[in-house]
This record gives sequence, structure tokens and C-alpha cells, in this order.
Amino acid sequence: MEKRTIQFSPPDIGELEIAEVAEAMRSGWITTGPRTKLLERRLAAYIATGRSEDDGEPDRVVCLNSATAAEEINLRLIGVGPGDEVIVPAYTYTATASAAIHCGARVVFADIRKDGASDTHMPEMDYDKVAELINERTKAVIPVDLGGIVCDYDRLFEVVEHTSSCFSPTPSDGTPLGDLSNRIQSAVGRVAVVTDAAHALGAGRVVGGAYRNCGAIADFTSFSFHAVKNFTTAEGGAAAWKPIRGVQNEEIYHMTQLLSLHGQSKDALAKTKAGAWEYDIIAPWYKCNMTDITAGIGLRQLDRYPGLLERRREIVKRYDHVCDMLGISHLVHTTPTMTSSCHLYLIRVPDIDEERRNRMIERMAERGVATNVHYKPLPMMTAYKGLGWDIKDFPNSFDYYHNLITLPLHTKLSNEDVDFVCAALEEAVRLC
Ligand SMILES: Cc1ncc(COP(=O)(O)O)c(C=O)c1O
Repeated sequence: MEKRTIQFSPPDIGELEIAEVAEAMRSGWITTGPRTKLLERRLAAYIATGRSEDDGEPDRVVCLNSATAAEEINLRLIGVGPGDEVIVPAYTYTATASAAIHCGARVVFADIRKDGASDTHMPEMDYDKVAELINERTKAVIPVDLGGIVCDYDRLFEVVEHTSSCFSPTPSDGTPLGDLSNRIQSAVGRVAVVTDAAHALGAGRVVGGAYRNCGAIADFTSFSFHAVKNFTTAEGGAAAWKPIRGVQNEEIYHMTQLLSLHGQSKDALAKTKAGAWEYDIIAPWYKCNMTDITAGIGLRQLDRYPGLLERRREIVKRYDHVCDMLGISHLVHTTPTMTSSCHLYLIRVPDIDEERRNRMIERMAERGVATNVHYKPLPMMTAYKGLGWDIKDFPNSFDYYHNLITLPLHTKLSNEDVDFVCAALEEAVRLC
């Protein structure tokens, strides 16, 4: 077999993005400004309707410098802090858990269902376990729409509604953030669903009988625009939220601005208005805003995004065909009630151990094919072992991981590349 260089997940950046970045740099305004605000409004429209024309929908999305920051800001906004517990799947990337830890909360891991969800095979939390873990200290649960596959929110909402009797909102400490958090927690009236949708911009699912896009399903959502994601701004992310009864979207938007920009009452753009130099600092907060240079990349990515998703779906179909022939289990990216953003293609090779899986990865690398493993469960990582977690308590997560390989899935792959990956996979299964 020949050799070909197939990268795992290079960014798809074209002349449109390059021209927009150059334009932003020439414009005289390079930090958070008009491009970031436009991207926020267009993302809000995209989440609400699936179309990204700016329809003036303000205050539903805030663009930040990462998904990690977006999740942390979401959690801080709802008042998660020391003494609180946050339920996180054991099977995810560290950011899902670390953002909660940064807030001072205790992370409680939940194992996944054996072999993942029955329809999509996605390594999704076992919601019966989540129900058992919820107690009076639990303030949020963080489902992960892993690989772009949307979780079973009907079931998750059922669990958090069912356990609402043990939920009591954190009393306000009298500060503007404390007041807002208390009003949000009181209006939600149960453990908040704060989704990690780092992979899932553009995905959607029927929830509560209606099809909804990711960002309009959970109470709060975070997206990643990191360089390896479907939709990129090099580094970046966004926080989104569903309207909350009795709380104005503007209030949430304003508080996220404060939380992400030093607690400063005016941003740099507002301060440039003649005579408007004076500002206040309401609390010594964080610094994680998006710049107009990176927002420029995002604006042009958003123009191209429907086409990028379509190409991902074509590649998934080709992989599905070959994996089904080889008897290899894989994520199911489309079901009658769910459309994935096709971010990752996870496969699980039957009857192999970790060592053989690693040999297969090496064999494919010898053919020039870069693969990956999403994820080594968090209780296997040094930091989380140090916090007292043990993978023995998460047998389904370990089982899912031990024979897993992630194939390259991105829009720089030609059909010939995809066929080559399939041939290298078939060879690795045969020879390892
Ligand atoms: C599941 C998941 N959550 C969160 C993140 C963090 O994203 P970011 O790098 O934008 O902070 C990632 C990044 O890879 C991720 O895979």
C-alpha cells in the first residue's frame, strides 16, 4: 500500500477569510468591535432559524476567546461557586470539567451508558446515574454534544424536572451578579442544563416535540471555534442562552460583557466616543473577549458553513458504508430526530484490547493517516486521579475508550483521501 499525508483536522480557511481579516486590520479597529457584534447577531439568528443573515436579533449570544471561557462565564452567570456540585460526564475533554473547577465548584463525574446511546452510539451520560447523583448541592449538569451529536435532552430535562424538589436557589449576596444569578436560578427552578456544545454548532434535535438547533435547547450553551473545530476563528467560542422567564436577555448579555471584560462598565469601543472616557469597575473579573480580527474569520466561515456541513455529511456516508462492511461500530450522525454537525467520526473495533488499538493507530500513521482517540476518560488523567477519581468506578467509560479510534473528518479531504483512509483502516484491522 502506498503512503499519503492525511492530516487529522486542518482548518479550512479560504481567500474570503483572509480578505476579511486584512480588511479588519486595515479598518483601524482590531479588538472587540463591529465585527464581533455582527458575528454575535448572525450566530443568534443561525441558532434561532438555521439562517445566518443579520436579522437584528440582539443579546442571545456573546462571542469570547474560547469555549472554556464561555462555559465558565455561563456557570458564573448562574452563580455556580464553592459549595456547589456540577455533574459532568467522565467521558469528555478536560475543559468540560475544568471550567466548573475554575468557578470553585466540585465536579461529580457520571459514567456513560454501556456502548453509548442506543441510536447514535454517542458516549452519552447515563441519565439514571445523573438522577442518582443530583442532591441539594447540585446546581448544574453539563451534557456534552460529543462529535456534533445532540444528547437526549427530553430524557435529561425529565431528570432535572423530576428532581426539582431538592433544588433551592442560592440566595443573593446583594451584588448585581448575585441578584441576577438568584433570579436565573429561581426562574429555572431546578438544576440548570449548561451544555458543552464545543463540537455542535449547526446540529439540532427534536426536543419537546419541536426541532431545535443546538444553542436553543439547553438553558445555557458553549460553542468552540478552536482551530480544529468545524467552524473556526483560530481560537474562540461563544456562549448562548434560551430566554428565561422574568429575566431580560439584555441583562444576561450585559452581565456576560462585564464578566468577560474586567467587570468594566464600558468596553474599549464605548470609551472612544467623544468625552466618554470615564468608566467604573464593578468587580475584579475576567478577560476573555473576542477580537474583531478573529470575528472576521468567523463572519466568512459562517457564510460558508452550510456547504462545509454538507461536505462533512458526504464523508460520513462514505465512512459509514465501509465501517458497516467491516463490522466496525461507529457514531450514527443522522437519525429521524437528530442532525449532527458531523464533527468527529468515532469508531470502535470489536474484540480488540487497548494495545491492539494502539498498534492499529501506529499502522495507519505509517500509511500517513493521522487518527486520534476522543477521549481518554478524565478519571484516567493525572489531575483527576489526584482529585480522588478512579476509572474503576466508570467501567462503561473505560470500555468505550479501550477500542476506540477517531478517523480524520474534515473538509480538506478529497474522496480519494477518504477511500485511502478506509483502505488503511481495513489493512490495520487485518494485520494488527
Ligand atoms: C468537548 C470539548 N469541550 C470544550 C473544549 C474547549 O474548547 P476551547 O479550546 O474553545 O476552549 C473542547 C476543545 O477541544 C472540547 O473538545
